[in-house]
Amino acid sequence: MTILQQIAYRYYQQFKQQYILVKAPGRFNLIGEHVDYNLGLVLPAAIDKHIYLALGKSNDTNLVEIFSPYFNQTARFTCDNDSLEGLPSWIKYLKATIIELKARGYALEAVNGAIDGDIPLGAGLSSSAALCCGFIYGISYLNQLKIPRNEIAVIAQATEHRVGLNCGLMDQYAVLYGKAGHVIGLDCRSLNFRYIPLNLQEYSIVVANSKIKHELAAGSGYNERRAACERVVETINRNHAEVNSLRDVDFHTLRSYKDKVDAIDYKRANYVLEENQRVIQTMKALEDGRIASVGQYLYQSHYGMKLDYEITVPEIDLLVDLTKPFKEVIGSRMVGGGFGGCTINLIETAAKAQVLEHIAQEYENQFHVAPEFYDIQPDEGVHLVHAPA
Ligand code: GLA
Repeated sequence: MTILQQIAYRYYQQFKQQYILVKAPGRFNLIGEHVDYNLGLVLPAAIDKHIYLALGKSNDTNLVEIFSPYFNQTARFTCDNDSLEGLPSWIKYLKATIIELKARGYALEAVNGAIDGDIPLGAGLSSSAALCCGFIYGISYLNQLKIPRNEIAVIAQATEHRVGLNCGLMDQYAVLYGKAGHVIGLDCRSLNFRYIPLNLQEYSIVVANSKIKHELAAGSGYNERRAACERVVETINRNHAEVNSLRDVDFHTLRSYKDKVDAIDYKRANYVLEENQRVIQTMKALEDGRIASVGQYLYQSHYGMKLDYEITVPEIDLLVDLTKPFKEVIGSRMVGGGFGGCTINLIETAAKAQVLEHIAQEYENQFHVAPEFYDIQPDEGVHLVHAPA
């Protein structure tokens, strides 16, 4: 049985009623890290790893009752207060989603369900965006709310903020608008996007999981990085009213503020401007079929995150460094919010097994934990795979 069949079966065993099935993908980001909340450009895609939600209406006094083999728990709550305190993080996401929907005036009936998935958790592949977007999409369908995708994205983002991560909109757009075979060239200022075919020729994308779990919302440096960028914008804005985000700042202007902002904040902002430029260069290289250049930009992005944005960890840096001696690997970098998680790697398909074996061995020797590798493909965004006739 597939995970999807299993979750449908288990839902029916438990609740003996009609249900819908929603498939919500995780995401990877080819390049453009920590650029979304600075309203720049990013290049993510939905991936062929998912969270599956079987959902139905219920008459229970609990507004939500959802069991989950994936999270190994059951979520059961009414929603008569806004407190998230003490809840396991996946239940925080569900409850915060309901709070956000209610705050927008949506009338919701009680829901029961089952959730499973194969997105590695805390690995920088956006299991939380998949959970929130999939849940909102399912609730919208069950209650015939017809919430448009762009609004689902904003509600899912507000949910993350409520849980504690001041994220941008990249993950939600990737999860909701993904298209097989394509990356999404998303402009986070206008929220316009275009699909760019991901034709990697003789190369494959392999995700390497360091097994260092990142908990971005729980007081990590993520929010502090965002605050640093905002401090720089605020300083520049005093003399340039037209500057409302780092997207509105060019290198020349930034340099002229070097002595007026904190040195570390300056380094962070400079990274963001460089990363945004790399996204533009990568889009162009992809469209021209210059895959080797794409790979170079990935390495540059990684070293920017390591040295200037300072969001990598030694395990992740080793995963990237171990690829360097291989001519069969043309690019590698950490993916997602940072402080652990995964790298993405562009590896010659024919040499994949041999390269990964070497990396796994060296990594295990140093950190005494076996990394995991996944082949991934850009996939469709959130969608319904079953509804009662
Ligand atoms: C997390 C956030 C995103 C984005 C990335 C870094 O995934 O949720 O909004 O900022 O980190 O690019």
